[in-house]
This record gives sequence, structure tokens and C-alpha cells, in this order.
Amino acid sequence: MTREQLQALLADMTLEEKIGQVLQLSGDFYASNTAVTGPCEELGIDERAVKLAGSVLSISGAKELRQIQENYLKTQPHQIPLLFMADIINGYRTVFPIPLAQGCTFDPKLVEECAYMAARESAAAGLHVTFSPMTDLVRDARWGRVMESTGEDPYLNGILAASAVKGYQGKDLSEKGRIAACVKHFAAYGAPMAGREYNHVELSEHSLREDYLPSYREAIHAGAAMVMTSFNTLDRIPSTGNKWLMQEVLRGEMGFDGVLISDWAAIRELFLYGAAEDESGAAAQAIEAGVDIDMMTSTYWNNLAKLTEDGIIKEEQIDAGVWRILELKNKLGLFDNPYKDADEAEESDYAVCKQHRDLARKAAEESFVLLQNKEQLLPLCESDEVVWVGPYVEERNILGSWSFFADTKDSVTIKEAAERRKAGQIYVQGCGILEPGVTAKGFRYDVHNSMTMQETEAGIQQAVEAARHAKKVVVAIGEHSFMSGEGTSRADITVPDTQLELLRRVHAVNDNIVVVLFCGRPLDIRFVTALAKSVLVVWMPGTEGGSAIVDMLYGKTVPSGKLSMSFPYAVGQVPLCYNALPVARPPVPQEDLRFVSHYMDIPNEPLFPFGYGLSYTTFSYGMPQLDCEVMHRDNNEELHACVTVQNTGNCAATETVQWYIRDMAGSVVRPVRELKGFQRIALQPGETCDVSFAITEEMLRFYKRDMTYGSESGKFELYVGGDSRADHKAVFTLI
Ligand code: GLC
Repeated sequence: MTREQLQALLADMTLEEKIGQVLQLSGDFYASNTAVTGPCEELGIDERAVKLAGSVLSISGAKELRQIQENYLKTQPHQIPLLFMADIINGYRTVFPIPLAQGCTFDPKLVEECAYMAARESAAAGLHVTFSPMTDLVRDARWGRVMESTGEDPYLNGILAASAVKGYQGKDLSEKGRIAACVKHFAAYGAPMAGREYNHVELSEHSLREDYLPSYREAIHAGAAMVMTSFNTLDRIPSTGNKWLMQEVLRGEMGFDGVLISDWAAIRELFLYGAAEDESGAAAQAIEAGVDIDMMTSTYWNNLAKLTEDGIIKEEQIDAGVWRILELKNKLGLFDNPYKDADEAEESDYAVCKQHRDLARKAAEESFVLLQNKEQLLPLCESDEVVWVGPYVEERNILGSWSFFADTKDSVTIKEAAERRKAGQIYVQGCGILEPGVTAKGFRYDVHNSMTMQETEAGIQQAVEAARHAKKVVVAIGEHSFMSGEGTSRADITVPDTQLELLRRVHAVNDNIVVVLFCGRPLDIRFVTALAKSVLVVWMPGTEGGSAIVDMLYGKTVPSGKLSMSFPYAVGQVPLCYNALPVARPPVPQEDLRFVSHYMDIPNEPLFPFGYGLSYTTFSYGMPQLDCEVMHRDNNEELHACVTVQNTGNCAATETVQWYIRDMAGSVVRPVRELKGFQRIALQPGETCDVSFAITEEMLRFYKRDMTYGSESGKFELYVGGDSRADHKAVFTLI
């Protein structure tokens, strides 16, 4: 449709039709096998709302969605097609590593490819929009949704969020195999107090702007078609009713002109927060904030007409949202073809096809992080007599909790991959992932560990006997997939006790242990690193997890992942980040530790910091060399740094060279360092490489004391290395 045709369409719509467009209902209101009356009554809407709603979420399948669209258009007064949206967070049928793991790849091109493959699969299944990328900055491993983020660094998050948007959307939304991206959750949902889900967020505006907003901005500047509001309050104002955040910051400063959707029931929750007297007030606040779609409540549907009649809001405000929704549908080409890419044959062809599996395996390999490898226990040799124990040896649910469109039967387990490599090995589950008798709740089904204490004890004994005479023992343990994701905050972030008991008992008979650690968050793994010689973090690795793990354990691939989020020494340290603000009383080794910023019982440093990851080889770094030590801001100059990196080990490998800058003084306190650049370099054994990095005045800018954005003259330090503790440094001055 042309702009003029869209304008004419909007002008011809009744108020009721417009209010229908800003309503989003879940798929069960349209699924062929459910009577609509029940859900309608529960939600407080009538069947007219179902006939006029503008979009549907959380249902997929080419056949089903084509049928729903066809039925819907039969009674749609202006033939305005439905939008179909869903959470395609790390893949649709082919599942890639969870985003926190993808963050460890430091590979924007790979993230873009994974998003494109996910788009292709879900578009063929009839979907038009994904509620992804989630780019909430995260520093608190107690919060279960850290698994959906790419981590604790604003710069890395911004680059990867933009990559995901490009992968989903391409250059033209109407193009085959492309879907619209919806960036979430705006804003700062990743900083809930005490790490507790749905809790309040207390941030200074400096921290909000410096740390939490940049990655949303990068995704929006990459062209994200939609943004989703966050559940949390900011400065005691719920985001979904925060006019300053949504109109001034999101639409004004960031220039976002797409569709803004609430999170699930977040408009009604303005009333439940006590931020509105009633649902009518909640609807008015959200419209004032410019929220275009009400996800799964009747608040807009039941109140906007009367608010308009009473003159509390203007119909133009509703028109503004409806216009953006019509524009999005038009950009997707739905007025020309309301079924877009929905195609049963293609849906089947793409699902876990070889090309997608190959990419999933590559992504998994690049996301694994080798945290420890004492005595070079890894890689395993073909001749090693290896015993495989632990509840993850045969576990198929290694996809992460947002993978409910996938089928775990498509996953490759560690055992399947190991057997393909070497027949006749010994595999013993030993115990459950969950404690005996415990149930973990998923979105679509629950998982229960029905093993009794006696059965668990017998299993552990069996594992111990199997491990006793082995050359090496691979112990595959970790959190359950459903122990991270939405609604899964944990105050104790250790591996479940049963599994730690298994590890302890195996260690008692054999200390040549490799732990393969499955998790959706950084865990407190002091006990694990004390008993294992090698620890490989595989996160929730996705469909090809088992293949990628076994290939890496045997050295067919080499670890290159770098932590996207710090592993704390203990949960008492969180929230935790490498780019923290300096304290005036840092602890100084060998000096009195009383009146300095420290804990009496644990160190300040994490167990493993952001950017950290070992390889099967080693790398050496020279000192960074600068072509000049003074940057004149008025001349729009760049400084050029260069460092020589060498592969000093005996296997080819990839290293992520990381560049950090510290502003030594400012009108506000500046972080001890900030990631400003990184490069992945592949080196043969003995090979050296000169890596260069351009420093610009723009990367030195920040929100100053008066909240203006810019750089300040003074001294800076540049660090380069293989993780955020890099100490090879150079000094320069900005004048
Ligand atoms: C959930 C999540 C959000 C998701 C939405 C739709 O509550 O907070 O991330 O996209 O509902 O499933």
C-alpha cells in the first residue's frame, strides 16, 4: 500500500476498529481446537474483541496460522491482516546457544547468522515478529533472565543486539525469510533489586544512561521495528507508564518511530502497582507514554473509547499507535500477501536442516568457555579410557527455557556424540539434574525428578565404581534448563546439591576430572573448580550441543569463548561487573585491610572475570604502542594503537583481543575500565600478528556532571589483553 492508501484506510476506520488494532491476544483465542468463550470471560473481553484484535502472540505453524488468518479476514471490516508474534529468542526449531552464551563468542557475524536462520525457520512457520533481541544489561546472576542477555558490557551488548536485528530483519521486512525484531525490555529490566524477578529498579540517571540504555539504542539505530516495555519501575515509575522514558528518551533522543508494545499485562499492572487509581487510569497513562499495543489484557479494549469520549485522551493519540501498526503490517507486505512466508513444505524443509544444524554446532563451539585446564587434562586423547558420568550425559533438554517451539528429540546428547566417536564407552547418569522429588516448571511442561534418595544413592555408587579405574572422567552437571529464564531468580546459585555429591564421591576415587558445566547464568562454582582439573562452561548449548561438546573435548575444535558475564566468587558479591566505579579506599595487598572497601570473608574479585576464557594453546601479548600520546579534540584526531600477539602454544586457535580504556578523572567518577574494542584473530602455532586499534574522541565521551554528553580533557590509560584484567598498558592525554 502507498502512504496515501494507508492514510485513507486509517481515516475510514471506526474508533472500535482502531481500539482492536492496539489489542494483542494469545493464540488460544484463535486456535482451531479451543472455544473462545472461556478465555474471553477470563480476560474480560467479548468475542467482538477477538474479531478485531490486531495481533496474536505465542502460536506458530504454517497450516494453523494460514487458517487463522483466512478465518479472521472473513470478518475483518477493512481486511487488515493479523500480525503473528512470538518469542524466538535463540532459534525456532533449530536451537542455537542461549544469548548469554552467544555473547561469549564476541562474534557479531555469527550472531547475525543465527538470527537469520531463526528468522527463516519461523517465517516459514507463519510468524512475522520475534520478541528479540533481549538486550537488558545484566550484572546479577541471581536473576534468571540473564540467560537471555548477551551480558554485562554495554559496548558488546550494543554490537550484538544490532547484529541480531540485522539478522532477523535484513534490509527489507517484506523480503522472504525475514521477520521484524522487537527489542526488549525497555528499560533496565536487568537490574531488579536483590536479583528478584519483577522487582523494582533503582538506578541513577547517570548509570541508566551510561550502562543500561546504550544497547537498546544500538538495536534501534540498526532499524529494530518494535520495542517492548519492561515490567519494572525506574525511579518509582513503571516503565509502561513512563512518558519521559518512552516519549523523550526512546522516541525523542533515540529516534524510535516504530511500534511500542507492552510486556505481558504490563499496562494493567500500572493499576496493580498502585501507579493508577484504576484500569482506566492505567490505560490513560500508557497511551500518554505512547504504548501502541496492550499485550494480553483488556485494559485498552475496555477503556480507550470512554477515555476518548470523556476527553481525557484524544483520538489522535490512538491514531498515532494504529498508524505505526498499519505501517509495520505494510512494511511486512501483509496487505499484499497476508500469509507472507507461511509454507508447510518450507517449514518442514528448514526445520533442523543440515545447514542450520551446522551453524548451531559452530555457534555452540564458539560459545563454550574453558575456565580451567590443570595439567592440560584437555583435550582428551582417542586412547584415553574415558568414563562419562552425570545427569547431562544423556539429557536432551539443553536448549534453554525459551525454546518451546523446538523438539528436544532433535537435540544431540553427549552420549550420542561420544558413541559416534568411540564405541563401547561407559556412561552413568548417577543422579538427577534436580534434587530428588523436585519439579521444575517450564512454559509448556514441567519436569519432575522422580528418583528416590535410595535410587540416587545407588546411581552415585554406580558412577563411582565406573570412575574408579578410568584414565579420565567427564562429569556432565549443571542447572536444569528450566532453572533459568523468566521467573527463576535464585538466592543460592550453586549446582544442585545432589550433583555436587556425585562430583565429590567420584573425586574421592579419581581426580582426573573434566567437568562440563550446563547453566543459564554464572554460578558459584568454587566447589567445582576445587575438585575438577578442567572446567568447560557450555551454558545451554542448543540442538547440536552434544556434538559440539565432544568435538571440543577431543580437540577437534579449540575453545575460544570469552565470558560475557563475570562468574562471582560467591553470590554475596553480586551485582558484579568488571567496569565498576573505583573506590577511594581500595584494598592494598599486604596493608591493613580494615578500613578499606572489602569483605571480611571473601575477596572482592570474581572467580572468573568478564572477557576471560582459556584455549588449548597460549597467547602472549606485547606492550601496546601508540603512534602519538596526545589527542587534540578540536582536530578530530585519532590515535592508533598496535600490539603484537603470538600463539605460543602448539595448536592453531582463535583469540579475542580486547581493548579497554580508563578515563583517570572526570566531572563524575569514571569506571576502572571500559571495553572499547575487540578483534578475533586466528593464529597458527608460533605465529604472531600485529593488531591495531583506533582511539577516537567519540569513544571517550560520557554523561558529565551536568548530564551533557561529551569528553573531558585529561589522562587516559589503554589496556590490551585476553580478558578484562589486561594490564599491558599505554597512557595518552586528551587536550
Ligand atoms: C513475557 C516476557 C517477555 C515475552 C512476553 C511474551 O512475560 O517478559 O520477554 O516476550 O511475555 O511471551
